[in-house]
Amino acid sequence: MKDISAYGIVLILVISFTACEYNVENEEVIMVDDSCDPAVLYSATIAPLIANNCMPCHNGDGSIPQAPNLTLYATVQSNAELIKEVTQSGRMPKDGTITDAQIAAIKCWVDNGALDN
Ligand code: HEC
Repeated sequence: MKDISAYGIVLILVISFTACEYNVENEEVIMVDDSCDPAVLYSATIAPLIANNCMPCHNGDGSIPQAPNLTLYATVQSNAELIKEVTQSGRMPKDGTITDAQIAAIKCWVDNGALDN
């Protein structure tokens, strides 16, 4: 009797451990689906996107003091999280629209470290 219940407990432990592992794997799969394309480059995608959609408001000429200058990599990089946030929420571009793919590209570039690539 003792042996059988011990075996049962071990079995339950194994099953719950396996279930846990399965969940973790599941989450990883979801994260892979949401993963970012490392080929989203500042030079090829982000800089032109900003030039086409965020100007003239963010040209840094001082006419809109609250709008950060987004013409330089350094200022885009220092505002990267904010840029991701305002494009995710749809707050920017003010008076304009960008596509879901462009919004996703910005998020990917920022999540990949907002590199000067
Ligand atoms: C028509 C003008 C206009 C366009 C186009 C525009 N912005 Fe802005 N942006 C503003 C103004 C004005 C502010 C400051 C006031 C505010 O936050 O609403 C601002 C603020 C910001 C801020 C700072 C937000 C904060 O909370 O401090 C970020 C980041 C930003 N814009 C990013 C962008 C990006 C990225 C684009 C292009 C995809 C863009 N904007 C397009 C006018 C514009």
